[in-house]
Amino acid sequence: MGLANKLAAPQIKKLVAYQSARRIGGIGNNYLNANESPYPAYQMPKQESWQRYPDFLPGDLTTKYGLYSGTPSDCVLTTRGADEGIDLLIRAFCEPNKDSIVINTPTYAMYDFIAEAHQVSISKIALTPGDFKLDVPAYGALTAQPKIIFLCHPNNPTGNLLSRQDVLALAKKYSDEAFVVVDEAYIEFTPSDSFALDIASTPNLIVLRTLSKAFSLAAVRIGFVLANSDVIQLLAKLIAPYPIPDPCARIALNSLSETGVSYMEAQRDRILFSKAEVEKKLKALSCVERVYPSVTNFLLVKFEDSVKAFDYLVEHGIILRDQAKQPGLENHLRISIGDDIDLQQMLDCLASFK
Ligand SMILES: Cc1ncc(COP(=O)(O)O)c(C=O)c1O
Repeated sequence: MGLANKLAAPQIKKLVAYQSARRIGGIGNNYLNANESPYPAYQMPKQESWQRYPDFLPGDLTTKYGLYSGTPSDCVLTTRGADEGIDLLIRAFCEPNKDSIVINTPTYAMYDFIAEAHQVSISKIALTPGDFKLDVPAYGALTAQPKIIFLCHPNNPTGNLLSRQDVLALAKKYSDEAFVVVDEAYIEFTPSDSFALDIASTPNLIVLRTLSKAFSLAAVRIGFVLANSDVIQLLAKLIAPYPIPDPCARIALNSLSETGVSYMEAQRDRILFSKAEVEKKLKALSCVERVYPSVTNFLLVKFEDSVKAFDYLVEHGIILRDQAKQPGLENHLRISIGDDIDLQQMLDCLASFK
């Protein structure tokens, strides 16, 4: 019995997956089993055909992402963004009003939000002040035994990587009792730091990925869960009948082609170059107290007065992400690395801010 079966919430363990027409499968040349229209949709070019349901899960995309990430295809699940992966994991393993997850603050807000929506309790462990490292000893003081530990690597909004040693130490500590989920939404900005290749040797390690960031496909909503096959099978039982729209799967597949990946890498390098330039210029501004080192496509910045700076930028049509309500981030804003024109406009505006 795998760890996924052992830790599955009881209602999910006994769940029988919905048997959609495509999931049941069957090879024929006359499909009359899914109440689809036999006619093309309005104004569709002849070669485009959308009236049929897509595959239960897009096999070719799953295989392609497996090759891209170095993961066997039975260890990959394609999801509607990494956010759907978070939701599936919490629903699959956590019983409402009984189980708990751990998050490390400050971090991406969706772990907390989804757990709360499913009445799963949340233990919060602060990252170490100033350098945002994992506080591994603090896990020893947890009163509730968690089912899932969410780690964000690199972390949003702080922009730093977690230590490899710390992550693997946590996975080892909880090897039989909890999953350690490493959210690698920004990993393309520092690819050699991925935990994808550790999954085979660490059965309770799960990695989340997305095409929304470095691959520039946020609107297409494609993410991936990388995990041992027993976890993937459990999540596939729970996922919606036809989760991935065909046009989205095709766009994603194209982006993962050899030329697609080279294009992504070139854009990524451009973003990293702009980030270094903006970082220098921000540090020279009198309203800025600190710019944190970041390996991502955003910068966390401490302002003298972030509320006034934020409002001043809004008055000029420039919207940053306010972080002041996150624990330990009073007076902090997060700046995404946009194109040169948008970044210069933001810098000029801050230079005129008193
Ligand atoms: C750390 C992190 N994980 C996941 C996501 C969500 O990604 P997706 O667009 O694939 O749902 C984001 C988006 O901002 C993020 O910052």
